[in-house]
Amino acid sequence: MALLDVRDLKLHYATPEGPLRAVDGVSFIIAEPGEAVGIVGESGSGKTSLASAIMRLLPTNVSCYEGQVLYKGTDLMKLSDEAFRRDIRSRTIALVAQGAMNTLNPVLRVGFQITERLLLEPGVGKEEASRRAEDLVERVGLAREVVQRYPHELSGGMKQRVGIAMALVMSPQVLILDEPTSALDVSVQAQVMNLLKQLKRDAGLAMLFITHDIALASDLCDRILVAYGGQLVEQGSADSVLPGPKHPYTQKLIASIPRLHGANKPDFLSGTSPDLVSPPSGCRFRERCPHAFEPCESKDPPAIKVGKEHTARCWLYQSDPVAAGEKTAR
Ligand SMILES: Nc1ncnc2c1ncn2[C@@H]1O[C@H](COP(=O)(O)OP(=O)(O)OP(=O)(O)O)[C@@H](O)[C@H]1O
Ligand code: SF4
Ligand SMILES: [Mg+2]
Repeated sequence: MALLDVRDLKLHYATPEGPLRAVDGVSFIIAEPGEAVGIVGESGSGKTSLASAIMRLLPTNVSCYEGQVLYKGTDLMKLSDEAFRRDIRSRTIALVAQGAMNTLNPVLRVGFQITERLLLEPGVGKEEASRRAEDLVERVGLAREVVQRYPHELSGGMKQRVGIAMALVMSPQVLILDEPTSALDVSVQAQVMNLLKQLKRDAGLAMLFITHDIALASDLCDRILVAYGGQLVEQGSADSVLPGPKHPYTQKLIASIPRLHGANKPDFLSGTSPDLVSPPSGCRFRERCPHAFEPCESKDPPAIKVGKEHTARCWLYQSDPVAAGEKTAR
């Protein structure tokens, strides 16, 4: 049984133009403790919305929220809001939200902010909480005295570590990190990535690591999920997806990584991400795809097996010529 098993999850928002399908039938698993799964995709592909859907942190304009989120076999979508808040959020699955380092309260010491959630627990006193805050800042690589400081006394990298410490306060089994390093310079980014690797290795934390940077995801993650237009278009082990991307979008993402050596120039993807209120018919990538052929316009491709535990939503891999139609590259 998988640790986390997300099945056909949907989160649509009501907008004046109609429902916006930010998460549109997403399925994936985190198999076991200590596994890191990376979600990679461009801006607007629905990554943060997927994290919000799993954490049940929803805005008021939700028009559809359905699917299954199984944690060790129990469907969290069936829990009441109160049970979810009490037993799941922070305690079982915790989130380091996008831009978390900029949302620390400027007038509260970081130690208090780290333990705010813990202090809601019955029987937890201030002394125990402040000891826990010191242990946690130490665990994320900061000096214990940092708990006494205010956010403006910390660098960006330190604030991000505090954000991670806050998420760890209830000892969750699964940590969702939404772009945890995108506002940091490269050397600080590397330090935070090393911290995440250490937490994964030593504490057996399972992670869902959200990023627009596939190279960064490959550094940490065992498996890679590629998001495009509210769907996951490719999934597989990092060892399989990175050297052999199958979906044309993933191929473009990997080709766009700048390289220090070699003659190959980065190949950037042209065009804009699909309108999620009225996405293109058939394959959502077809207006930007260099390989689009007949069936791509009429039918949305299912996840097709392209390797061992590796799938791609692309008609190029449909072996049944009747279903796929004749290939006529444009
Ligand atoms: N409350 C909302 N109401 C309407 N549309 C929304 C709402 N929240 C997000 N969206 C839209 O949903 C889509 C997915 O947004 P989301 O923030 O999940 O993308 P993302 O992949 O995290 O992007 P980024 O990489 O920029 O963080 C976007 O088109 C966004 O504008
Ligand atoms: S299904 Fe067609 S349009 Fe979509 S990625 Fe594959 S070839 Fe391109
Ligand atoms: Mg986001």
